[in-house]
Formats: sequence, structure tokens, C-alpha cells
Amino acid sequence: MTKTSSPDVLERLVSLCKRRGFIFQSSEIYGGTGSVWDYGPLGVELKRNIKDRWWHSMVRTRDDIEGLDAAILMHPRVWEASGHVSGFVDPLVECTNCKRRFRADDERIKGEPGSPDAQCPSCGMKGTLTAPRQFNLMFKTFMGPVEDTAAVVYLRPETAQGIYVNFLNVQQASRQRIPFGIAQIGKAFRNEITPGNFIFRTREFEQMEMQFFVEPGTDMKWFEYWKEQRLRWHESLGIAPERLRFHEHSKEELAHYARAAFDIEFDFGGSLGFQEIEGVHNRGDFDLTRHQEFSGKKLDYFDQPNNRRFVPYVVETSVGADRTTLAILVNGFREEAVPGEEEGRTVLAFHPAIAPIKAGVFPLVKKDGMPEMASRLASDLRAYFPVFYDESGAIGRRYRRQDEVGTPFCITIDGESVSDGTVTVRDRDTLKQERVASEQVRDYVLERIAA
Ligand code: GAP
Repeated sequence: MTKTSSPDVLERLVSLCKRRGFIFQSSEIYGGTGSVWDYGPLGVELKRNIKDRWWHSMVRTRDDIEGLDAAILMHPRVWEASGHVSGFVDPLVECTNCKRRFRADDERIKGEPGSPDAQCPSCGMKGTLTAPRQFNLMFKTFMGPVEDTAAVVYLRPETAQGIYVNFLNVQQASRQRIPFGIAQIGKAFRNEITPGNFIFRTREFEQMEMQFFVEPGTDMKWFEYWKEQRLRWHESLGIAPERLRFHEHSKEELAHYARAAFDIEFDFGGSLGFQEIEGVHNRGDFDLTRHQEFSGKKLDYFDQPNNRRFVPYVVETSVGADRTTLAILVNGFREEAVPGEEEGRTVLAFHPAIAPIKAGVFPLVKKDGMPEMASRLASDLRAYFPVFYDESGAIGRRYRRQDEVGTPFCITIDGESVSDGTVTVRDRDTLKQERVASEQVRDYVLERIAA
């Protein structure tokens, strides 16, 4: 069920993202690459702020989680052990008339693919859809200079496996005791049959994953703990609580490795509605046991106080950095009237902590010492957070341009500033302006970013 009453803002958001330098289509001058996107100057800051916040909450502020940055290319046996070679497949059907491809379970297909009455959802022809065949979603490449004899390797479809194969390395090096976790952020690749909806489902994306290793029997307790922690984290980014919900996986939905799974869903609005942004999975001992089997190396844990060995269970939290970025963009996007003004404004109401630019600094006019004072203030502040200096055009237009990219504070230097050293600070959301001593502006903004 994805029903929603939130408005569909995706189309307008895509155009804003391009116009203001958040997100561009990959290789656009060549006609684009299917469902791959590039982050521009503001997008890279926004996504980095989201990743930093995740790393801060999962690694830096906890003594029971260690960080890792494993390689994208791994030994090919990893993906046999993980079940991805045999099981990471989608049923694919093709239309022999228009050559379009669909997942066999695409709701738009009428009739049974492969039968004469099945109808192609794209060209409308009947009887042209092939019977489903299993299509592996992993990208393959070759390691070594000669393709024929080189080993086939895969671009990882999830970052989790890099954590499992390093479980003992990290545990022993950091002298952690169970329960503890390993976290990493990195690229993952999936040759999705039906990617789309901007950066929602892409073929190259970033995951922020954490595997928490626990004693068997305590796994459901930790599973509940992580579900709640992760929901709170999304709320801490400023996502409206009513746009977030849990979805429990039924037996049929459970991935091959999962004993229990909940998605955290965000309401993207329009026809997309509520969709997964994060998965919390109880993976039991599936992964470590399989890697023991396939590598022939022990991956069990020695529980010293009780003098026994066991293979830990794993509770996983797995969130897409790109999908969270899209949720943040959709959540913050507003088009609204401005009291007393004819022209409305578009706002990206980001939490100050993740806004790409924290403050705009403007001289009211380009004379009487205002530009000098403003540019001095801008360069002082730049040592602490990203600042945008703008002295061109009407002040109202400069505010609008910052509202549109989510800048929470606009600092204006006027005639009074030059004589008494105070400046006005305008709040993006309330539109209220406060006079603040210029030497206190830095702390004023820093306090609100940290809130
Ligand atoms: N290790 C478990 C795992 O990968 P998943 O549910 O397949 O689980 C986790 O993926 C998260 O990764 C999703 O909730 C989503 O945010 C993100 N994700 C997965 N496939 C994606 C894609 N094709 N494009 C963008 N994000 C994706």
C-alpha cells in the first residue's frame, strides 16, 4: 500500500535540483546514462552532511560500533557464499515488438507473460511478452588484463559483505566484545530492471550499513532497539514524523538471509507514496556461517567469561544515502505565498545541520562601506561553515534565491551595521529578522546548526 495525500512534487524538484546545482543526469551531453546521477555543488554538500550525521550517530558517538571502508571489488566466492550469485535475481520479461523490458510482476502487465493474451504495457501489443527469465542484478567485470582468462568479479550490490568478511579482523584489532557493530558507507551497484523516480532507484548508489553482532537469543531484543533508533535518526534530520512509518516484511517478502525484517518507509507523495528508505534486518547467523563454509575459515567468537565459542547473530541497519537525500528534498520542498508580496517563494526547508549553505551574507547596497564589511564577515564565517556571499540584485530576490536552496539564515549588512556593528539575521522559515552584533553572528548560527 503506498496511498498518500501528500502532493507530487517530484517533477518540480528534479528541475530545481538541476537549475540550482544539486543533481544532474550522468553524462547528460551524451544523452544521459540510464538511471545514474551526478551530484553538483549543493547536492554533494547535502549528501555529505547526511552521511556525516549518520557516521556521527553510528560510529563517533558510540563505543560499541567501529568504522570500516572495505573495497568494492571482492573475491568472487563472496557472492556465492552470500547467495547473490544464485538468488539476487528478478524475473524479467521482454516485449518482442517494442523491445522494452519489465519485471514480470509489473502491475501494469495484463495477463500472464508468455501467454498469447498478455499485453505489453508500453506498446499495447498482445502476445509479444516473453515468458519470465531470471535476471541477475549484479554488474560483472573482469579482473586482470586479458578478458578471456581473467577472473569474473562483481561490483558489490551491498556493502554488508565487506563487513562480514572483516568481522574477526575488526573484532580482534579493536578488542570489541559482543554485542558490537561495524559500520560503513560506500557505493553499491545493481543492474535494476526498472530503475527510476529520479534518485529513488538507480543503478549506482550509496549505502550506509551497520551490522550489529549479538549473542544468539538476544537478537530480537537488539532488532527492536535498532528499529527505534533508526526511526529516531530520520526524525532528527527534520523529516515530519507523519511521513515516516514501519512496514513489516511478510514471510513471502523476506530476503533469503532474513529471519525478520522491517522497512522504514517515507511518504514521497503523489503516486510514489510510502516507499522504503531503510531496512532493519535480523540476519541470524546466515552470513557468517556461509562465509565459514565457503572460505574454510572459522568466523566464530570466543566468549571468554563463559569459555565458549559461537557464531554471532547479526542485526543489520541498511539505509540508502541517495534515497534519504531524496526524502530530505521532498520533505523540505514547499511553494508558498509570502505575506505582503505578489511573488511567492519556493523553499527547501532543510534542518540547519544538513543545509548545504548555512548562511547567505549580503550588503544591502553596493556602497557606503557595506560590501567591505559584508565580505569581511563572510570570509570570517567561512572558517566555520559554508557561506554564500551575494551583492547583486534586489535584496528580496537574494533572499528568494537562498530560500530555494534551503539556506537557513540570511545576514544583511545595512547602513546601521556600518555605524554600530550590528547586522540583521533573517530566519528562512519564520521570515523574522533579528538584529545581532556582528561578532556574535558566528555563535548565533553555530548554536542553531547544532540544535
Ligand atoms: N544489505 C541489505 C540491503 O542491501 P536492501 O533493502 O536491498 O538491503 C537497503 O537495500 C537500502 O539501500 C534501501 O532501503 C535503499 O535505501 C537503498 N537502495 C537499495 N537499492 C537501491 C537502488 N537501486 N537505488 C537507490 N537506493 C537503493
